[in-house]
Amino acid sequence: MTQSKQAITAIRGIKDILPEEISRWHFVENTFKSILTGYGYQEIRLPILEKTALFARSIGEVTDIVEKEMYTFDDRNQESLTLRPEGTAQCVRSVLEHGLIHNQSQKLWYSGPMFRYERPQKGRYRQFYQAGVESFGLAGPEIEAEQLLMMARFFKLLGLERCVSLQLNTLGSFSARMGYQEALVKYFTARIDELDEESKRRLTSNPLRILDSKHPQMQALVKAAPSILDYLTPESLAHFERLQKILKVSHLSFSIEPRLVRGLDYYTETVYEWVTQDLGAQGAVCAGGRYDILVEQLGGKPTPAVGFAIGIERIVALLELEGQVATPSIADVYCVFLTLDAVLIGLPLVENARNHIANIKLVADLAGGSVKSQFKRADKSGAKLAVILGEDELKNETLTIKYLREDKPQVTIEQKSLVAFLLGHL
Ligand code: HAM
Repeated sequence: MTQSKQAITAIRGIKDILPEEISRWHFVENTFKSILTGYGYQEIRLPILEKTALFARSIGEVTDIVEKEMYTFDDRNQESLTLRPEGTAQCVRSVLEHGLIHNQSQKLWYSGPMFRYERPQKGRYRQFYQAGVESFGLAGPEIEAEQLLMMARFFKLLGLERCVSLQLNTLGSFSARMGYQEALVKYFTARIDELDEESKRRLTSNPLRILDSKHPQMQALVKAAPSILDYLTPESLAHFERLQKILKVSHLSFSIEPRLVRGLDYYTETVYEWVTQDLGAQGAVCAGGRYDILVEQLGGKPTPAVGFAIGIERIVALLELEGQVATPSIADVYCVFLTLDAVLIGLPLVENARNHIANIKLVADLAGGSVKSQFKRADKSGAKLAVILGEDELKNETLTIKYLREDKPQVTIEQKSLVAFLLGHL
C-alpha cells in the first residue's frame, strides 16, 4: 500500500503558538497569576472534557454555544462528552463535587484551552485560551468592584490601559428579567416583519439574545427596544448603583450599556465586557458577571457567584500591536566546541557552571559544522558571551571568551576559572 506523503496541517481555527510569540504569552499568564495571587485567589485545574449535560444545563439550551458550537462526541462507552467551551460551568461542578463551597466562600482562578466551533477569523479561534476567575459566596457588589479593579490593574501592568474600556450593565434578578423579557417579546412581535430570521427564531426561544444581534438591519430596532434598566427591582437597582459608586470612588471609568447581554444564560444582575477598538470585530478581551442561580441549577444550595474570563489570544494580539514585549534571547552564554575532544572537556565544564550559577542560560552548540556556522548560531542566540574551546585551548587548559555584543578584544582564561569569570561578567 502506498501512503500519501502530503504534509498534514493543523485543524482550521486551531493554531500553534510558536516560540517567537511565547514571551508575550508568558507575560500575560505570569502577570495574571501574580495579580490573582495578590488578591487571595487560588488556582484550580479543571479537565478539558466534561459530560455534555453540564454545559447544556448551565450555558443554556438556546444559546449559540450549546446549539452550534460545542465539540461533542460519544466516547467508546457511548457516553456523550464535550470539549469544554468555557470554564464557569465546570468550576461550579468541581466546587460542588468536592464540597469547596460548603459553609465557606471561595476565590478561584484557572487557565487553559477552550473549544468552540465558531467561524474562524482574526481573534476568533476554535481552540482558544482563557484565564478565568470565579468567586463563590459573596453577595454584595463589592466583589464585582474588586474583580474589575483587579482587571484594571492587570491591563495597567501590561501597558494596555489606554487600549481597553469597560462596558457595564445589569440584567436584574432572574424574576425581574422575566418581566423584561415579556416587554421585549411584545416590542419585537409588533415589529416582526423587520426582524432577521435568527431574531424571529429567538423571539420564542431566547428573546434577550435578540439584543445581541450583529445584523445591520436590526441595529436601529435594537437601539429603540425597551431598556432593562426600567424593569429592575429596587434591590437590583441598589446593587447596581452601589457597584457604580465604588468604581467611581476608585477612579475606574466605565460606560453603561443597557443592551449588553451575554452569550451565556446563567447571568443575573451585573454583566460586563472589557472591549478594545484595536482588534476589529473581535473586540471583547475580557467578559463576565454575576451568576447567582447557577450553583442551584447544578444541584447545590443557592450561592452567590461572580467571575470573568480573559481571552489570551486577544490580549497577546494587543500587546503585539503595542510592541510592548521584546523577545528575550535564548542564551546568556554560547559555547562553541571546535573538536570532538573539546566536547569531552567542554560539556563537563558547562555542567559545572550550571551547578554554580542559578538560572543561567548556557547553550552549548551540539550541531558541530564549520566554525563560521557555529558563530552564526552564537550570534543569533542573543548571547552576550561566546566561550570557545579548540585545539590550542585544549593544549593550554584555557578557554577563549569572545564578547558578542560589545566592541572589546577577546580574552583567554583558565578553564578552572570559568565560573568566577561568568559570575563577574553577566
Ligand atoms: P465569554 O464571553 O464567552 O465568557 O468568553 C470570555 C472571553 O474569551 C471573551 O471576552 C474573549 O476574549 C474570549 N473568547 C471567547 N470566544 C473566543 C474565541 N472563539 N476565540 C478567541 N477568544 C475567545 C465566558 O466564557 C464566561 N465563562 C466568563 C465568565 C466567567 N463569566 C463568569 N465567570
